[in-house]
Amino acid sequence: MTYVSCFWSHRDTCHELLGHVPLLAEPSFAQFSQEIGLASLGASDESIQTLATCYFFTVEFGLCKQEGKLRAYGAGLLSSISELKHALSGNAVIKPFDPKVTCKQECIITTFQDVYFVSDSFEEAKVKMREFAKTIKRPFTVRYNPYTQSVDVLKDTPSINSVVEELRHELDIVGDALSRLNKHLGV
Ligand SMILES: [Fe+2]
Repeated sequence: MTYVSCFWSHRDTCHELLGHVPLLAEPSFAQFSQEIGLASLGASDESIQTLATCYFFTVEFGLCKQEGKLRAYGAGLLSSISELKHALSGNAVIKPFDPKVTCKQECIITTFQDVYFVSDSFEEAKVKMREFAKTIKRPFTVRYNPYTQSVDVLKDTPSINSVVEELRHELDIVGDALSRLNKHLGV
């Protein structure tokens, strides 16, 4: 669920199916992508633009590390062999992904990017996006509800209490799992 729409979507179905879909099957990447979408709900146009820029330099043109080696995961890069070669050539300017910095970078749609951003992992990128999302001004917080597969708006006591109840239940499950494990291990 990403509300910042794909830049390339109007021009290339292969880009969507081969570039985006396989990555969305990776849970940590799907969560990262969802963080951007959630952060955009109720945000000002200006904030949405900063999120769209983060989306552009990650989901479309992002680089990551795998066993210390530079790799591309952005669907825009995977759709362009010449830009992919350029980004990984060693000559491109590469900076660590940091939403505060990345959101100010100009998105170039006519030629190669001036800068690419690298993340150590999707997990790290997700944590950074969550922190960045907290700085976006809006009168409520949102949360994806996996039971209803919809977005809950947390803006009053009942809605917040309902999340607290769910968290208590989840903690009960964790506590039960730990006590069973301890019994099994004879601790
Ligand atoms: Fe795309």
